[in-house]
Formats: sequence, C-alpha cells, structure tokens
Amino acid sequence: MTAFLNGQFLPLSEARISPLDRGFLYADGVYEVIPVYSRFPFRIDEHLSRLQHSLDGIRLPNPHTNEEWRTIILRLIAETEYDDQLLYIQVTRGADNKRDPCFPKGVPQTVFLFTAPLVGPTAALREQGVAAITAPDIRWSRCDLKAVALLPNVLTRQLAADAGCAETIMIRNGYLTEGSSTNVFVVKNGVILTPPQDNLILPGITCNVVLELADTHKAPLEVRPVSEAEVRDADEIWITSSTKEVLGVVTLDGQPVGHGEAAGKPGPVTRRMHEWFCAFRENVMRRGHD
Ligand code: PDD
Repeated sequence: MTAFLNGQFLPLSEARISPLDRGFLYADGVYEVIPVYSRFPFRIDEHLSRLQHSLDGIRLPNPHTNEEWRTIILRLIAETEYDDQLLYIQVTRGADNKRDPCFPKGVPQTVFLFTAPLVGPTAALREQGVAAITAPDIRWSRCDLKAVALLPNVLTRQLAADAGCAETIMIRNGYLTEGSSTNVFVVKNGVILTPPQDNLILPGITCNVVLELADTHKAPLEVRPVSEAEVRDADEIWITSSTKEVLGVVTLDGQPVGHGEAAGKPGPVTRRMHEWFCAFRENVMRRGHD
C-alpha cells in the first residue's frame, strides 16, 4: 500500500484518475511534499497549514480536517515498507464531465497521496557541494502557493540539468527569488541574507526551520531583498528544501562561489547551518513532536 486516492488506500500502480480531472486539464490543484524520517512526518502541522494557504489561494475547500489528514498520512506512512519517506499530497478541483474553466458545481475534489523513498544528497555530494546556474524567473505572481502548475519550474530546472548542474537560481527584476524547487540563502561577511516571504517565493518549511535556527543560535541574519549582484559576490550560497535540507552551492554559472582559498567549497556558515539542522531534526524526532 503506497497510495491513497479519494478515500481508498491502494497500491500506487492501481491508482486511476479521469482524464477530465482539472488537475490534468488545467493544473487546477495544489500539493505538498512532507519529508518522513524513521516514519516521523517532519513539521506536519506547518505542511498542513501551508496546504490550507494554497487551497485558500485557489478558492478550493479543504476536503479534510487536520485530524483526518493526520490519520490518512500516518496510516500511509505505517503501511509503507521503508522508514524514510517522501510523502506527496495533491488536491485538485476534481473531474467534471466537460472541459469548462469555471469552477464546477457539486464535483468532489480529487485527493491523492503517495509515498516514495526519501533520497537526499549523498554524504559525498554534501561535502563537495553542488553547481547551480542562474536564470530569469518566468513564473506567475502567486509563487507563495504550492500549485501543481509547475511548467515554469520544470523548464527552469531543465536548464540546470542541461548544464550538468543541480539547481537553477531565479532572478526577477534584478533580485533573487528562489531556486526551481528550493529556497536560497546567501552569506556575505558573516551575515546570512535571504529574500522576504512575499508572493514571489514559496514559504519553505525547511527555510523557516533555518530562520528559526539562525535566531536560536544568534547568527547574523537579514531577511530583505537580495540583489543579483549580492548573489554573484556571495561568500557562500546554500539552498534548502524538504529533500535537500541545507545544501551548499559551490559554483554559480561556472564561477566558484566565494573568495580566495575558501572559494568553490561549502563554507563554514553553510556547514554549521547544516549541523544545526541535523541536530534539530534528531531532537524533534526523539521528542516525537515539534
Ligand atoms: N519543493 N521553493 C520551491 C519553488 C519549491 O518547490 C520548494 C519545495 C521549496 C522548498 O520548500 P520546502 O522546504 O517546504 O520543501 C522552495 C518540493 C520539495 C517539491 O516540489 O518537490
């Protein structure tokens, strides 16, 4: 059992939806990705409240209470064979019997969940850091919603893949927004910089943990618009997401990130932040809640 579709637990290979599903026809839906460590869903409350924000943003009623979501999620986690999982949730505006952009009446939402093994960066990759490129941000102006309409992200991510890189960092009107599926942090003279969580970026759950950790450990932090020039002149860059946690970016558009001897390697602030993140995650799991 690795999937849940509209009230039923079933093998993923048996899950079927209508081709008239509005998620398929219009990308009319939202999603969440929750990392599960040793069968513990990390920051589940935060993910469920971001799901609510995304549903509100597209005027789609939440098909479940948080209690119901928890029950479904915990059962799916329990029935899957591996301990570390990536749990995917998608809610769409359902399948009507015709193609009409206006909201259908009386059509139930499609609710789909599945789990897959959680595959993070290898220790070697984490040690060595990853390469990234920059590209213009071609997305819409509601990037705060975790919408399934990911074509701009897909095209942008593929630019990185074509260049043999791990991520594309997006720039809009001369300012950093985020990665194609990550939030971005820059370090300059010991100060951590990251853009504010407005309508142009996703409020990342991992990003928020990092912001809390910076606060806890009194690490200098400025949440403010970050210019493209500041990104290019950074001492360190890292990206965050539910699957990557905190991952150093060591080259940008083929140029080493950083200056002097330290250039082209994950920097000290990046390493420390990843250690703090791991310690925090271990602690949360030990306590069984966050
Ligand atoms: N992506 N920004 C974008 C555009 C994202 O798609 C993601 C997550 C993030 C990081 O958010 P979080 O820390 O909550 O994972 C930032 C997920 C992992 C995905 O689409 O697979």
